[in-house]
Amino acid sequence: MSYSKSPRAKLLLTMLLFVTALGVVLFLQSGDHRPVYAGIFHVYLTLTEDPAQSMMINYQTLTPVNESNVYYDVTSRGGKTEDYAFHATAAPIMIAGLQDERRIHRVRLDNLQPDHVYYFIAGDAVTGFSNEMKFRTIATDSEQIRFVTGGDINIGTLPADLLRHAGEQAPMFAVIGGDFAYANGNLKNVGRWDKWFDNWTQHMVTPDGLMIPIVAAIGNHETNKEQSEDLHVRAPFYMAFFGHQAETIYFSRRIGKDIVMFLLDTGHLIPYEGAQTEWLRQELERYHDVPVKFACYHIPLYPAHRDFMGASSVKGRELWGPLFDQYRLTAAFENHDHVYKRSHLLRNNQIDPEGVLYLGDGCFGVPARTVDDELRWYLARAESTPHFWLVEVGPESIQYKAIDRNGKVFDEVTQARNQGSDS
Ligand SMILES: [Fe+2]
Repeated sequence: MSYSKSPRAKLLLTMLLFVTALGVVLFLQSGDHRPVYAGIFHVYLTLTEDPAQSMMINYQTLTPVNESNVYYDVTSRGGKTEDYAFHATAAPIMIAGLQDERRIHRVRLDNLQPDHVYYFIAGDAVTGFSNEMKFRTIATDSEQIRFVTGGDINIGTLPADLLRHAGEQAPMFAVIGGDFAYANGNLKNVGRWDKWFDNWTQHMVTPDGLMIPIVAAIGNHETNKEQSEDLHVRAPFYMAFFGHQAETIYFSRRIGKDIVMFLLDTGHLIPYEGAQTEWLRQELERYHDVPVKFACYHIPLYPAHRDFMGASSVKGRELWGPLFDQYRLTAAFENHDHVYKRSHLLRNNQIDPEGVLYLGDGCFGVPARTVDDELRWYLARAESTPHFWLVEVGPESIQYKAIDRNGKVFDEVTQARNQGSDS
């Protein structure tokens, strides 16, 4: 058999190869590209309202099973189900309309001992079980708490680098301020979440091999534009993966001896005004004597890239700012603007040594945007630098470190603990 070597045939062959190569490149870049998973996948943890004595184990399966199991113990048991002292079960859920009909498993472990390492395997007889994995519960009386925070992560190599360095810091948990996988609540973008979880599960492990639980707040890119009151329709992935954290989208977490954290929704599923702001007021009152108060949410009150007079930022300053001031919030972790920023201490919209520290601005994997040539009045520093924040709370003070893609601390600030609220 002989092949034609005419110039026309060569041209056609070259064009065919080019189109095929282009197709492969576009397919690989597309969020719809679907990894194939066998067995148990996307095993991650979420911090419950009692992080000293409880933990939520999350995982997924493509097998159509109706049970979720976690076998666990305070000693490594090498993956043999019958050797673990404890067993917890649950029923999986599905995402309505998602074509692969995957099961989302959430198994809550209760009555754990504070400050203990737990070893576990997750799965079922049909799918099989995960490798043995481990985590540490938080000590009830701990004055030393260490965590990382950031938002606007996305998929790819930049978030992978940042997540790897975040894991190396051995945080006790990670607080994510919205915009995870940029799937926009669109079921066709499930592959983006798969890649996001692939990055997370690979890199967010401490040097000792401990998994790092997530505390998740919602961002605009978790939601779609469907006209529905049903939050599962508006944010199908977020609700399936993190909706179990509380009865609604905003919630608080008490951590260790001295910390309370408020996770808020900057108007993506729940409006600022009304029930949420009233709840925030009540929670701040309820925890007014907890010395370290943090808030984490998506849209900044004090943006470092977008317009200071942006409608959502204005709303945050008008509705939440006075509450933060009155109850002496320690620091707010802000996101959405895709830059690095550290504010002055701010109170009543002015620089004030008794004020709140605002850190941000959501650049934990997305490419950085620009900051103004001239620093805005409320900012102590702003840069176009992807990063995450490492927060170390000690008995006397709190240290905040901004860490870049190379694992380098490029900014840090120490804050004395303030005492209680003005109310
Ligand atoms: Fe955003």
